[in-house]
Amino acid sequence: MNFLMAANWKMYKTAAEARTTLKELAALVPALPSNREAAIFAPAPFLYACKEALPKGFFLGAQNFYPEKEGAFTGEVSLPMLTECGCSMVLTGHSERRSIFGETDSLVGEKTAYAINNGFNAVLCVGETLEEREANKLEAVLERQLEKGLANVQNTKALCVAYEPVWAIGTGKVAGEAEIVEAHGVVRSFLNKKYNDAGASIRILYGGSVKPDNAKKIVSLDNVNGVLVGGASLQADSFSKIVTA
Ligand code: PGA
Repeated sequence: MNFLMAANWKMYKTAAEARTTLKELAALVPALPSNREAAIFAPAPFLYACKEALPKGFFLGAQNFYPEKEGAFTGEVSLPMLTECGCSMVLTGHSERRSIFGETDSLVGEKTAYAINNGFNAVLCVGETLEEREANKLEAVLERQLEKGLANVQNTKALCVAYEPVWAIGTGKVAGEAEIVEAHGVVRSFLNKKYNDAGASIRILYGGSVKPDNAKKIVSLDNVNGVLVGGASLQADSFSKIVTA
């Protein structure tokens, strides 16, 4: 299975900066290593600009969408609109969408199934807060988020799961190797139980303070099949080192 190295640009950059970063990235990574895939999850207003400057072999993804074809949903973006912008992937369940925008487990599940049933690849993000970890709820939280997040997902080929401990996102605090292996093990067992043989080929990405100097170690760990990177994906120089780590 190919590793997926994904950039989450969150609410950063202008269209001009996005184009410049992608051009620099294309120069730094003229061809992806043979076992690698890469994706950029860019802000909606300049997805179109990104489509035109995307490095060879990179996928384009959206950070958010609404699970309806069209309608009176002020402020929202549909999958057909994203297709026009060159997107084939979406994020669902990112902890910032859950905690800041109040997305519930069941909305996350609805969005994940809707994206996959409409021809998109979805990266479902799961992860525990520090409080939940300290209360020994890691397994229960991940299982609940996966249960609800994948309730109506049958096509596992279009699915990735990203384990992102909330306490490691944007904090510079990367989870320890044992913590990553333990959490990814919980996710893998869940996927194996739910999808039988197909569960073994679903990619599980790690996210949370991934940097050029820890990416190689992280992707060498058991059940880690790629990374989802925020801060260190904003500069072409650092993201290119992660993509090829
Ligand atoms: P970070 O963000 O790499 O800045 O910790 C990761 C994410 O939110 O996906």
